Amino acid sequence: MARSRDPETDRRFMGEALELARSALGLTSPNPAVGCVIVRRGRIVGRGATAPGGRPHAETVALTEAGAQARGATAYVSFEPCAHFGQTPPCALALVEAGIARAVVGCVDPFPKVRGRGIAILKRAGIEVSSGVLEQECRALNEGFITRVATGRPFVILKLAATLDGRIAAAGGDSRWISSPPSREMVHRWRREADAVMVGAGTVLADNPRLTCRIQGGRDPVRVIVDGQLRTPAGARVFTERSNAPAILVTTRANLERARIRYGSAPVEVLGAQTRSGEIALDEVMQEFGRRGWCKVLIEGGAHLAGAALRQRIVDRVALFLAPRILGCGLAAVEGLAFDRVRRSIRLAGLSARPVGDDWLLEGRPVVGLKAR
Ligand SMILES: NC(=O)c1ccc[n+]([C@@H]2O[C@H](COP(=O)([O-])OP(=O)(O)OC[C@H]3O[C@@H](n4cnc5c(N)ncnc54)[C@H](OP(=O)(O)O)[C@@H]3O)[C@@H](O)[C@H]2O)c1
Repeated sequence: MARSRDPETDRRFMGEALELARSALGLTSPNPAVGCVIVRRGRIVGRGATAPGGRPHAETVALTEAGAQARGATAYVSFEPCAHFGQTPPCALALVEAGIARAVVGCVDPFPKVRGRGIAILKRAGIEVSSGVLEQECRALNEGFITRVATGRPFVILKLAATLDGRIAAAGGDSRWISSPPSREMVHRWRREADAVMVGAGTVLADNPRLTCRIQGGRDPVRVIVDGQLRTPAGARVFTERSNAPAILVTTRANLERARIRYGSAPVEVLGAQTRSGEIALDEVMQEFGRRGWCKVLIEGGAHLAGAALRQRIVDRVALFLAPRILGCGLAAVEGLAFDRVRRSIRLAGLSARPVGDDWLLEGRPVVGLKAR
């Protein structure tokens, strides 16, 4: 049986598996989004992506399509096949039983019940295994799942759109629209891939956003409002807008009963959170979201929530759309942080910059308290 060990061919088919995985992003929590292609004599005979809700797994879908053609074929899987009996038998065993001759794995699954055991099952059965093909890309695609396994909380992206002078709203409070339509469309794609989107009460009061995902084939993330003092109107669009995802209002435990009365008629879950120095402990809230199996949360402002999230060190990536506009006054992108020395400020590590429409998108990992270079 012709089995490719050509690195270029391996990367090409792993790329196909990654595309399948990408199509499932945001739909598979608490499971990772995985893609699998079965290749026989240089031709794809089976494709699969993790199904919505996380089951069936990509390998099962691809093996079902391949049928008898899987015998002697190569399986390309973007994430290590699972090794444990959960609600389904392990995918590693399914690959063995289907007679796969070679498996190419993107990256190891850090989940304690798997973590190399899937690859070990394959090897023990005499299957040739190549791992680490497009590893970085495969890991990046499941950064949410990997973060939740490592920390118990979802991967958190803080997204803001600012002018060149660092304002996210005009002095009159309006922020529509600082960024260009392609940037806003990109944010809708991110909403589709996130388990939840979160804003502060100030943003609901100023913009009355819907926080739904309005692109073709999109699905709404859970919409979360952080509101320490219950300023959010019960008739806010985030509650009244038709959506297939629930809304959650996070407030202090002390305000829980009051909140239940105030929002009793609104379709919203009220979550009472711990406080620290009078402010909602967002890290605890994220741990709760992790317990719900969520892998990715997109924080969309405003300035005070952004400041609290950065201060509490729950942000894994800052994504700043920098628009070619100057306001001269208005709301600073981040409020509630006050570093008195440049060297104490938060800097972004691993910075990338790319044009999106009329804007520049800057992305990086916030690092606190390192000396400026
Ligand atoms: N350009 C952009 O990307 C963008 C994005 C979003 C919003 N905006 C603009 O930003 C403005 C709103 O920003 P903002 O800073 O005024 O409001 P905000 O950050 O949306 O909300 C601030 C409020 O959220 C609550 N909150 C946030 N973190 C909290 C915590 N850890 N604990 C307790 N409560 C917490 C507090 O509510 P309580 O006061 O009730 O305690 C606080 O006042 C609007 O003008 C909007 O148009 C711009």
